[in-house]
Amino acid sequence: MPFRRERKKVERPIDVSRSIEESLEEAAAGEEEEDLADLVDLDDATATEVAAGGPEHPPSDLAVRLRDALSSEAPARAAVGPSRATHPESGVDLAVDAARGLRLRNPVLTASGTFGQGIEYAELIDVSRLGAMVNKGTTPSARPGNPQYRIAETPSGILNSIGLENPGATEVARKYGKQWAALGVPVIVNVAGYSVDDYVYVVSEMAGTPGVVAYELNVSCPNVKGGMLFGCDPGLAAEVTRAVKAETDLPVIVKLTPSAPDVVAVARACEEAGADGLTAINTVLGMRIDTARRRPILGTGSGGLSGPAIRPIAVHITYQVAQAVGIPVIGAGGVTSAEDALEFLMAGASAVQVGTATFADPLAPLKVIEGLAAYVREQRLGSIRDIIGAALPARVAPEG
Ligand SMILES: Cc1cc2nc3c(=O)[nH]c(=O)nc-3n(C[C@H](O)[C@H](O)[C@H](O)COP(=O)(O)O)c2cc1C
Repeated sequence: MPFRRERKKVERPIDVSRSIEESLEEAAAGEEEEDLADLVDLDDATATEVAAGGPEHPPSDLAVRLRDALSSEAPARAAVGPSRATHPESGVDLAVDAARGLRLRNPVLTASGTFGQGIEYAELIDVSRLGAMVNKGTTPSARPGNPQYRIAETPSGILNSIGLENPGATEVARKYGKQWAALGVPVIVNVAGYSVDDYVYVVSEMAGTPGVVAYELNVSCPNVKGGMLFGCDPGLAAEVTRAVKAETDLPVIVKLTPSAPDVVAVARACEEAGADGLTAINTVLGMRIDTARRRPILGTGSGGLSGPAIRPIAVHITYQVAQAVGIPVIGAGGVTSAEDALEFLMAGASAVQVGTATFADPLAPLKVIEGLAAYVREQRLGSIRDIIGAALPARVAPEG
């Protein structure tokens, strides 16, 4: 398996006297593999190879299974069953319906764009313990992504403008389907496009891809006709939902954008158009300025803010949307711990996605699962489902 170069173990003190751009330039030139953006974009090298510094690092059980699956001529299998090993969550009922027709073994998913295609992380963590993973946004054709810089740190979060870098739907299905099936974790394909036809095309190209159990529509994309984000307009969001539902029998989840003037109206329109679930939320628009250059840091100017900084916004939207619709809601935005996940679940989410936290700690999603299992045990709950919506206002029973 190819790998890049031996990782340097050099500590790099941050020189606060230099401009952000100079510091970033030096970091990028010196240690590309350690750059956050590179973690997102890992291609031929696997995360473990980069982290371990070479192929002599002993492969994990899962890595061996993955390699066996890839080297065999056997046809791709459906997702293999859960690992036989005992984990802290074993024996605890964490199963949830993350969308209509999508029961998962636990409510913890990895968020799109923060976990590569999942394969890269499979040697670092046992991905078969996840509820599901969501792949990187997939478009009809390959996209190179946005100009540098594409990541900037912010207080309690990051700004990104990766720009939907991906190899295109046909290549994603060809390259990753067999590997996904071997990993034993359900995969949700994150679909993006600039017209309704784009979304439909991606779903038609992905049809029958092993391991894929649902689609998540990233409607935070501008519509070529008029430029408005699909997810900002209830009519446009409904149109894309209806068209994709007509193309596939798999559950369709629409990922809401906090940029919508009335996100609850968008959520309702998607439900009426047949959506099986909603994800709340995508990133929040933001910007940082490099004061030395007197220019925005990100190549695109603005970018999407993620991480703990947006958690209260995401919990608020989850709370509003969960009361407005009857379909499951998946919470996303700044989940770093089981405590954070519980906030979303109590606000009405049926599951959560862990995104930015994974960059700092690839084990974060598994720690969230373990923490939720411990909570169910400590609280003597029958299942994690018992606390979904616990913080919502009590519904008044109809009279008579
Ligand atoms: C580097 C990066 C890339 C992302 N790419 C996508 C994407 O391709 N499609 C998408 O729907 N969301 C994308 N997102 C948004 C995340 O899936 C998630 O909704 C958001 O980051 C909030 O969760 P978090 O705070 O846990 O990261 C991306 C986020 C980050 C940080």
